[in-house]
Amino acid sequence: MNSSRKIIPALGLVIMIVAAALWWFIPSQSLPARVGKNETVIKKETIEQHTSDSASLSPHNLQPQDAVDAFLAQHWKDPISPQGKPPTHFSAHEASLAPETCGQCHVQQYQDWQHSLHSKTMGPGILWQLRLMTQADGNQCMKCHAPLAEQKALIAQAQGWPNAPQQKPPAYVPADLGHQGLVCASCHVRKHQRFGPEPLKEMAAQLPHDGFTIAPAFEDSRFCAACHQFPQDGPRTNNKLREDTYAQWLQSSFAKNGQQCQSCHMPDRKHQWKGIHDQHMVIGALTTELTRTGNQIYVDVINSGAGHYFPTYMVPKVIVELRYRAKNKTEFSVIATDTIGWNVDISLAQELADTRIPAGARRRLGATLPTGFDHNGVVDIYLRVKPREHYERTFLSVLEQRDKLDAETLALLQTAYDEAVLTHYEFTLATYSLTAP
Ligand code: HEC
Ligand code: HEC
Ligand code: HEC
Ligand code: HEC
Ligand code: HEC
Repeated sequence: MNSSRKIIPALGLVIMIVAAALWWFIPSQSLPARVGKNETVIKKETIEQHTSDSASLSPHNLQPQDAVDAFLAQHWKDPISPQGKPPTHFSAHEASLAPETCGQCHVQQYQDWQHSLHSKTMGPGILWQLRLMTQADGNQCMKCHAPLAEQKALIAQAQGWPNAPQQKPPAYVPADLGHQGLVCASCHVRKHQRFGPEPLKEMAAQLPHDGFTIAPAFEDSRFCAACHQFPQDGPRTNNKLREDTYAQWLQSSFAKNGQQCQSCHMPDRKHQWKGIHDQHMVIGALTTELTRTGNQIYVDVINSGAGHYFPTYMVPKVIVELRYRAKNKTEFSVIATDTIGWNVDISLAQELADTRIPAGARRRLGATLPTGFDHNGVVDIYLRVKPREHYERTFLSVLEQRDKLDAETLALLQTAYDEAVLTHYEFTLATYSLTAP
């Protein structure tokens, strides 16, 4: 997804040069106050700590409303400041930003994260595009895909962008951090301090990495909105925000019942973030009902389990087929098809169709059974899920202009397209007997 913010080129250059100088280190006077060596801090978030800046990332562009908004405005302030020099008493382990180092102690979170899409946000799909971009535009993408200053610096070096830092990264920045996507530290570490949710278990008296700061924002949907919701002045098609997940959630009954994004996407605090790429999530999102009058049937597809539209934005498409079969037969005939999703042309200028199902709403499909149908026959509701359909079309259209791309860009683009196609899956969601109840 692309955000709308554009930097005026001349101004952008000034910002970039300053940023280049500050990438690895920040002046020591701006380091946060720290407690002494080996002293564990588990402190509650206070507003003063995080309201030093007026920038607001509140999804509705409001001034910070409460402590959570205030925390998030600082936590996701774009660009994120470099971590700076680690506290001198930190071991190499405590200072390292490498997710695999966090994983030596936080074993389960690391395993789950590794298999999640958040560890793949710097895949070939974005990398081929970065090769065609300026540093300023690339940084705008990385705001959500690899947000740490240290990651942006490494990517700038890898791309050979003019303002890339000359020095080698310090020891706490592993060489591949830029390509590791949304790493643990992007969500949890600022200026070498850890932030996390209220612990669920008793904590030891002394903890590594100076303990951590409890921030209730981690258990709030607004934490995710930083990347999963465009601001009101963000890019639109047919006047609809291209990324509007948080606003859709706000209108759902789940928000009213206090069920956050984390309740469904991080159950038991698991770091898996399963979504449309996962069959069980899609099964959990939908319920169906079939009614029959004579040879006429109606199938209602109800979004009962997703806390936002099904699907939330233009990328995925879900094709629904109604398949009639005579009893004990495997051959079927397709009696209706429907595509659920927000279909937008590849220039993003025109909406072709919007059949997404809001949370709690239903979409009805009608069909006529074949003449002389078997009253003991069945109807299968068969789904074909294309989690990245919009990208497939976009990537194909660029592949058609392959002569304009260098070999490396083309190879990345081809891999991105192949990976997108490989995410397709299909299955029978429900089977109804036509026998009158
Ligand atoms: C040497 C072991 C060690 C390393 C390395 C380590 N941690 Fe921790 N961390 C702990 C321990 C122990 C706790 C206390 C809570 C617990 O036991 O889970 C903790 C607590 C946390 C918490 C607070 C959890 C809560 O309940 O809110 C976060 C967040 C965290 N660490 C993130 C990280 C990140 C991110 C990294 C890597 C950049 C990292 N840690 C590296 C040992 C470690
Ligand atoms: C406001 C946050 C945000 C910004 C800024 C952003 N993205 Fe994304 N991007 C997302 C989210 C969220 C997804 C997941 C949507 C999905 O595909 O389900 C995504 C998915 C993608 C994907 C598909 C997944 C993959 O890795 O193949 C590509 C490609 C992509 N973005 C490229 C870009 C590019 C290029 C830019 C800059 C022009 C950009 N994004 C800027 C949030 C953002
Ligand atoms: C996209 C942001 C994000 C990333 C990336 C991320 N976390 Fe978390 N983490 C969270 C959120 C949000 C919570 C709180 C979830 C909740 O309370 O429901 C959390 C909770 C935790 C906790 C507390 C768990 C508990 O059971 O109390 C630890 C420890 C932790 N994360 C470590 C890590 C480590 C290690 C990594 C990398 C392998 C990582 N996180 C990556 C957002 C993130
Ligand atoms: C710093 C930006 C950022 C933050 C914060 C963030 N995400 Fe994401 N998220 C992304 C990007 C980028 C992707 C796309 C990954 C890809 O496909 O390459 C993504 C993907 C996902 C997916 C997978 C969707 C699919 O297509 O299957 C889910 C689910 C998700 N995020 C949920 C969350 C939740 C819940 C939170 C809050 C705890 C959160 N995210 C916080 C950037 C972010
Ligand atoms: C009540 C449970 C629930 C809540 C709350 C919820 N989701 Fe989902 N989410 C789902 C299910 C189920 C799916 C899979 C079906 C789908 O794609 O809509 C999903 C899919 C997704 C996807 C995959 C892409 C897509 O187009 O659907 C993203 C990204 C996502 N959720 C982000 C979020 C964010 C961010 C929030 C909070 C603002 C959130 N979700 C709240 C259940 C939930």
